[in-house]
Amino acid sequence: MAEIDRHGNESIWDSAAAGWAKWEFALMEALTDATEQMLDAASIDAGMHVLDLACGAGSQTIRAAQRVGASGRVIANDISSSMLDFVASNAALAGLSNVETLHGPAEGLSGCGLHIDAATCRLGLMLFQAPLDALDAVRSVLTEGGRFAVLVFASPKDNPLLSKTLMIALTHAGKPPPPPGAPGLFALSDPERLLELFEKAGYADTKIEQVSARLSVASVDEALTMMQEAFGVYRALLADLSEKDREAAWKDIRECLEGFSVDGSVDADMTLLLASGANPKA
Ligand SMILES: C[S@@+](CC[C@H](N)C(=O)[O-])C[C@H]1O[C@@H](n2cnc3c(N)ncnc32)[C@H](O)[C@@H]1O
Repeated sequence: MAEIDRHGNESIWDSAAAGWAKWEFALMEALTDATEQMLDAASIDAGMHVLDLACGAGSQTIRAAQRVGASGRVIANDISSSMLDFVASNAALAGLSNVETLHGPAEGLSGCGLHIDAATCRLGLMLFQAPLDALDAVRSVLTEGGRFAVLVFASPKDNPLLSKTLMIALTHAGKPPPPPGAPGLFALSDPERLLELFEKAGYADTKIEQVSARLSVASVDEALTMMQEAFGVYRALLADLSEKDREAAWKDIRECLEGFSVDGSVDADMTLLLASGANPKA
């Protein structure tokens, strides 16, 4: 059973959009270096046209837009139109006029008339129903030699906060962990499988490396509120429970978060995979 089913994806992320926009600063703080590494892996530079898939509220879109400058542009794509509303307002607040939004599943981007120099996807590809289709679609709109770079979560054991709390949510929801290949937080945590997907989709010069990050949230209560408001996967898993059962699940997740509490704040190591490949020159 996937953590998010085919039809629930858009509505689940629409309902999490305000929460994601509120809390993405915590993720951005944790992922500042990883995000720069992703932009480097996609060779993003001044003047380029960039596609940012599954952009969420757009903190990495904004970093890309700052890099490409006024002569470049970034197209922010997401399956959730509410997320895109946040990207548009966050870009305006950052004084950027080179960000556009494109609504729809990343898997459907081929044939949309785009022509881009580079593409990125931070913490999205593993949640897609058909990641290979998304890789294919990006390559079909990517200039020859242009690079696509993605960040996904590495193995559960290297992401203890997420894997332990996810297991609690799955148990309360009465669902087994998703089988290999089904969308989920750790769906692309096997580096070989991830590289294989890039290669299957026709990318050349593929690269993969592990990237470390540390999530820090001011208190256990804040960490719990962040997960309740922003984490679409958990919201989807617990959505069908009665209020009482959902409360019981969040109570157990809170107890688990206490195990990551250091001097009051919640601090947890995260490990990501940064994979990239180039659209080969003909
Ligand atoms: C975990 S959030 C990451 C957001 C953002 N990239 C970040 O790192 O802050 C995952 C995002 O993927 C989007 N998403 C899920 N499935 C998608 C799909 N098939 N195509 C495009 N976006 C998708 C969700 O709406 C959500 O905004």
